[in-house]
Amino acid sequence: MLSVDALTFPAFFSTSTLLNTLALSILVFVLYTIKFYVSYFNRDNALPGPLPLPIVGNLLQYAMYGDMVVWAHTLRKKYGDMWELYMGSERHVWLSRADLVDKLFSSSTKSNYKHRTNWKRALAEIKMLDHGVVLNRDLDLWAFNRRMMRLVMTSKEFNNYVIKTVPKMINEMETYWTKLRCIEDARQNDLKDNTNKHATVSNDKIINISDWFHALTLDDILYLSTSRSGCALASLLLSHSPNSEIPYSPETMNYAKEFRDRWTTFMETLRTAIFMPDFIRLGTPNGLMKRRKYLKNFHCLTNNLSTIIRETRAEVENGVNDSKNNCDILRLLLVANTHRGPTVKRGSDEIDMPMSDDEVRGVLLETWVGAVETSASLMCYVVYLVCRNPEVKEKIREEVDPLFKDNPNGILQLDDVNKKLDYLEAVIKEASRLYPPSPINQRVATQDDEIGGYKWKAGTQFILDVYGIQNHRAHWSNPEEFKPERFLSKDIVPYSIQTFGGGLRLCPGKQYAMLFSKIVLASLYNRYDIELANENEKPKTAYKLTLYCDRLRVKLKKRSE
Ligand code: HEM
Repeated sequence: MLSVDALTFPAFFSTSTLLNTLALSILVFVLYTIKFYVSYFNRDNALPGPLPLPIVGNLLQYAMYGDMVVWAHTLRKKYGDMWELYMGSERHVWLSRADLVDKLFSSSTKSNYKHRTNWKRALAEIKMLDHGVVLNRDLDLWAFNRRMMRLVMTSKEFNNYVIKTVPKMINEMETYWTKLRCIEDARQNDLKDNTNKHATVSNDKIINISDWFHALTLDDILYLSTSRSGCALASLLLSHSPNSEIPYSPETMNYAKEFRDRWTTFMETLRTAIFMPDFIRLGTPNGLMKRRKYLKNFHCLTNNLSTIIRETRAEVENGVNDSKNNCDILRLLLVANTHRGPTVKRGSDEIDMPMSDDEVRGVLLETWVGAVETSASLMCYVVYLVCRNPEVKEKIREEVDPLFKDNPNGILQLDDVNKKLDYLEAVIKEASRLYPPSPINQRVATQDDEIGGYKWKAGTQFILDVYGIQNHRAHWSNPEEFKPERFLSKDIVPYSIQTFGGGLRLCPGKQYAMLFSKIVLASLYNRYDIELANENEKPKTAYKLTLYCDRLRVKLKKRSE
């Protein structure tokens, strides 16, 4: 007969079994820890770096520090130009001096560093490893998508579309600033008080220019890629002044908001996929809940995008909105390899098939991943550094003002932006040296190789410490100083500036990003005096795959004639 105890507590949960299980778990953990540290202390090429913990590696230290860029800065100071970290169980070799990345930036088609990352389940789930460009591990498809993207973004049609479109968006932003009354008229100020030109402006005139630049960049890239409105600027206006009039219908606003929300969640998904190890993502209730939410969002976002692509393909095939007027990225991608557009080879294939909807979707999504946070944050850093260096602002104006003279609609010529704004370009490059929008880059060795005097196995993950390299004393004199003139000279150490990366995976949006930033900054410096709301306040930054500028509070004053 069964005892009452046995009925109440099944054998599995009996105290002694529980104790046995606990003891066994402790034993397994102790053995695992011993094995972990034995192999850690006997690893090949033991580089300096913080001591990792079993399973989590250095993730806990990272979590305690909070910001990868700041943490890396302290580690680099302590460990030198070549050091290591463990993200979970994956070993990362950090390279913090320009000459160390030489091979990683090889432009040879035989390069050993065509891959950015190793295979990761979280990235595979959101189709980043076999679609698009940024993390695509299918090298034939990556090369084809990349060629397509570059072809489109460097085409004359697209660049002319940019030149026409960006000023309209800037005007929209300025109209909203006027509605919010956040532009001060410097002329009135001068009349009121000639002795106090820097009188404090009331708080309601202070704007967080980071919000506006992010909205502008998002609207801009959505329009340039699909000829559809993102309404991010209008939505920002409404968040400050809910009753303001805007030029969009409620339906357009709602559709755009849903799209932007999905996009924001997608960026969160990507960050989590890169930083959160699978034992948390798949092994904890919170991780699993987030994963479900992210995957649902990803499917909705791709469905929305597929609809846009299908509709546009039908328009292109029926000759509606002919591509002479709308030269957006989507249309240009769709016509390539058809009788309407140029031919782009697919690897060694005989037939140059047009892109499928699925392929276009991957490229479009990554255009937004690449473009928004990087360009918006970079413009914030320019504004901040120029505010701190008023002599630079004067030099920018010497270059910019003549281009707007007798040019009432504010539309610049493509040739002028490309050829007559060298100083502004140097300012942007110098800002990106001090505040690199992509402060960390990655490559994986496909075969065994030698880097920094050590032999590494295929699969080794290298981290390019862009921030460290761009501020390294071996490459830059007084690296902490903001001196745009550095970029007017040709005397720059190879790979010491990596704003857009290098080698075979160099950023395909580089030319567009420069064009866009130059148009926006030239227009603003021509029309406004931008001052920091508080002279001692630095931009608030956070590392979110990009060096994201979260807050930069400024005052805008209309320039006196
Ligand atoms: C200021 C703006 C931008 C910065 C600082 C920036 C920076 C970078 C960097 C550092 C890389 C890695 C390059 C490498 O691994 O060598 C990269 C790659 C990439 N960027 Fe950009 N980017 C910017 C704008 C854009 C724009 C506007 C687009 C698209 C419209 C774009 C699309 C991409 C893509 C698709 C890749 C992956 C390339 C590959 O792996 O083959 N980026 N970007």
